[in-house]
Order: sequence, then C-alpha cells, then structure tokens
Amino acid sequence: MSELVDLDEPEFTRIAELVHSRYGIDLSKKRTLVRGRLNGTLRSLGYRSFNEYMEAVEADETGGRLTEMVDRLSTNHTYFFREADHLDYLVSYALPALWGDQAEKGLSETRIWCAGCATGEEPYSILIALADRFGLSRLPRHPIVLATDISTAALRTAAAAVYPPSRVREAGDVVKRGYAKSEPDGTLRMNGELASRVLFKRLNLMRRDFPFRRQFDAIFCRNVMIYFDQPTRVALVAAFRRHLRPGGFLFLGHSESMGRQVEGYQYMQPAVYRSLG
Ligand SMILES: C[S@@+](CC[C@H](N)C(=O)[O-])C[C@H]1O[C@@H](n2cnc3c(N)ncnc32)[C@H](O)[C@@H]1O
Repeated sequence: MSELVDLDEPEFTRIAELVHSRYGIDLSKKRTLVRGRLNGTLRSLGYRSFNEYMEAVEADETGGRLTEMVDRLSTNHTYFFREADHLDYLVSYALPALWGDQAEKGLSETRIWCAGCATGEEPYSILIALADRFGLSRLPRHPIVLATDISTAALRTAAAAVYPPSRVREAGDVVKRGYAKSEPDGTLRMNGELASRVLFKRLNLMRRDFPFRRQFDAIFCRNVMIYFDQPTRVALVAAFRRHLRPGGFLFLGHSESMGRQVEGYQYMQPAVYRSLG
C-alpha cells in the first residue's frame, strides 16, 4: 500500500478556508479526515503535494475539480426513516393544519423541500410517509418533493433509486408494502411511481438567493447545519423562512435544534418550527 501524501498546516488551512467560504462546511478540526479523504484523489490525478493539487482546483474555471473535492469531503451519512417522529408530525399534524378543510386541494398543491438530501433516503422516506397516510394513488403525479444537495456523487445514487442490501433491513417492510422491490441480489429498488414524485437537483445552500418561485409547505434541512458555524446556521434559517409559505414548517435535525427562540418562527416541538408568515 502506498504512503499517504503529507498535508501540512498551511495546505490544510488553504483547503479548509476554501471549503468553508464556498460551502459553509467547517473542517477546521478535521485535518486527519481531509488528508485521508483527499489522498486517493491526489494520487489518482498524479499530484505529489496538496499545494500542487490546490493550484489545479483553484485554476479550474469549470469548477469540476472543486465539485469533485467537495464530493470527497462532504459527509453523506443518512438512512431510511431517520428521526421518524418528524415524518409522523408532517403527515399527522403539519400538513392537515395547513390544509384545514381543503385537504384534497392541499394535497394536490403540496410542495416539500428536502435541503441536504444526501443519497435520497430522506426524500423517499417523506414520500412513503405521505403515501402511507394519504394513499400513493392520491398523491399528485408531479414531483412533490424537491431534494437538493451539493454532492453530485450522492445525488447520482439518489436519482438511481437503488440501494445496497444493507439498506433493506433499515427500510423495514417497504418492500412488502410495495414502495420498493428487492432484486434477486438483495438490492433495493424504489417503486418508480414513488420515485417520480421527487426531483433531485444540485444546489449549494450557501447561495441564499434560492431560485424558487413558489413557497414550500415544509422544508427539511436535517443533519446538514451540524457542519456549519453558528452565523451560517442563523442566516440559512432566515433564508428558509422566505421560502416557506406563512405557517409553513421547518424541520431541523434533533442534534442541531436552534432552541425555542428563533426569529420569525414559532417553536413547535424539538427541532420543528413554524413560520410566523
Ligand atoms: C449527513 S447528510 C444528511 C442527510 C439527510 N438530511 C439526513 O438527515 O439523513 C448532510 C448532507 O448535507 C450536504 N451539504 C453539506 N453542505 C452543503 C451545502 N453547502 N449545500 C448543500 N448541501 C450540503 C452534504 O453533501 C450531505 O449530503
């Protein structure tokens, strides 16, 4: 096995500052992770030092090298039905509260943004919760969930809607319920009808002028801001509010809850907020 290329302090700072300024991800205490995750990229591209590699990343006007770098450095860990109490809350309380006595119309116009969707288990879990509650055939035929991430590699997996056997167990009885098919090799393939209700797009959450014309009923941004510093989190939560309809719901990860006082929102329950409109 070949030796790891060394990453000295100035090289590490150069990488950490670039990633922080472009993507908000705080790597300042993650030198070992950066060195480990980028070593393979460095070697496969033939660079002998991190400085040489960074010259190429910064000089690449297409942004391709930078995208490849953040693909390696972002943590895409996720799983089906993570923090499932939020999914119950969405279908049992949040959406019915928004729809009032116009449930049919409400359902047909529902729009949910899953910001930082990683490899797709979260948006598919949201759709399964909706289908369980309201019936798959009653869901509108167009994409209800917009799922975005910065990692092209993660988005490729998400859009393919195929998961390795190790995921089948955590997905529970979705196969029995018809939301996915277990292939002979154990691979889990999401039902095409379900998958057609999610649209995957690459979007950097650091750009705050999000290009959406219509507001969302709910935004899920869970286990993403954990990698951001506090000013970035506050700015992002404020930006989300502009893209939530009045009374719309914001779901954060349980470990990154912002407490009970968040400007412009009503605290509903741990990590769930409602836009004051
Ligand atoms: C740990 S995963 C969380 C996935 C899912 N939301 C969940 O709770 O299981 C964090 C995701 O945030 C994405 N991410 C990090 N910084 C981002 C940014 N600036 N813009 C968009 N996505 C970002 C990463 O690529 C990664 O896929």
